Amino acid sequence: MKRRVLVTGGAGFIGSHVADAYLAAGCDVTVIDNLSHGRPQNVPKAAEFRQLDVGSEEARALVSGGGFEVISHLAAQVDVRVSVSDPIFDAEENLLALLNLLEGARAGGTRRLVFSSSGGVVYGERKPPHVETTPKLPVSPYGVSKLAAEYYLVCYGQLYGLEAVALRYANVYGPRQDPHGEAGVVAIFGNRLRTGKPLTIYGDGSQTRDYVYVADVARANVLAADATLPAPDGTVDARAFNIGTGVETSVTALAEAMIAAAGVEVSVDHAAARAGELLASALTAAKAERILGWTPQVSLAEGLRHTYDWLRGDAA
Ligand SMILES: NC(=O)c1ccc[n+]([C@@H]2O[C@H](COP(=O)([O-])OP(=O)(O)OC[C@H]3O[C@@H](n4cnc5c(N)ncnc54)[C@H](O)[C@@H]3O)[C@@H](O)[C@H]2O)c1
Repeated sequence: MKRRVLVTGGAGFIGSHVADAYLAAGCDVTVIDNLSHGRPQNVPKAAEFRQLDVGSEEARALVSGGGFEVISHLAAQVDVRVSVSDPIFDAEENLLALLNLLEGARAGGTRRLVFSSSGGVVYGERKPPHVETTPKLPVSPYGVSKLAAEYYLVCYGQLYGLEAVALRYANVYGPRQDPHGEAGVVAIFGNRLRTGKPLTIYGDGSQTRDYVYVADVARANVLAADATLPAPDGTVDARAFNIGTGVETSVTALAEAMIAAAGVEVSVDHAAARAGELLASALTAAKAERILGWTPQVSLAEGLRHTYDWLRGDAA
């Protein structure tokens, strides 16, 4: 019998690629998503789709009765600014809904849960590159909820033996990222390039990020579902893995690379730096390589080309 896997947030950007990757690995995949941000057409045809809120009674009943061996949990409120303006909503989406899922998983005997955390917001403004044991310094309610979620996972491991893995992603980019959101600079730049509009860089453009391609992130989920995990030690770091390239790319360099990938000429404007923006971020993924057997396989140039091709096709 095929292994049953649940992907929450599977109508969203990363979750839909995670669902694709589990299907390619031969799993029987169910997706739940409330479509607050995702799109039904993102859900792979071969997956079973249930439009449900992760925090609902129905979702909990589905999880407890669904026989899911593995859950990849990606559904979340993902906007840092929303978490600042409405921290209660952020906690409902990112903590209470997680607890509902965990209670369902506990009742249903789920073996492993792979959680989507965020390196950028958990480590905060530290000098990169970050390793998993870098002290945590979340500065937004979103960052606090991601880190608190990791503590809940450790706790459910200790109390009930749930094998919980936290994948701390760098800046994920690729096809299906919402070009109208606030998070994805690659999608935003790509959409502007497609329509011949100038790119706007906030600040002097020297701020750096670690860009990791979405298919690489999806593969990390599938590997994390089966890897032999380190023994728990009561910390959030024991079963946490950075998923990034370790390479810092400045916004200016990203804009240049995207203009090259698109092969179009647009101007680059500068606007005032945005308050609270991280100056630098990069994640060392040596632990993921050692334990999950994961390394990023798609270069930035190649990933940007795929993303731009998708943006052109999708917008038609
Ligand atoms: N995009 C990044 O660079 C990045 C970086 C670090 C971590 N992450 C994490 O990865 C995960 C996926 O992010 P994404 O960029 O694909 O965002 P996304 O908004 O495209 O996907 C999230 C999905 O979750 C769904 N959703 C939200 N709340 C829900 C709820 N209560 N019940 C059911 N569905 C719900 C949305 O409709 C959406 O389809 C999130 O947990 C996010 O915090 C993303």
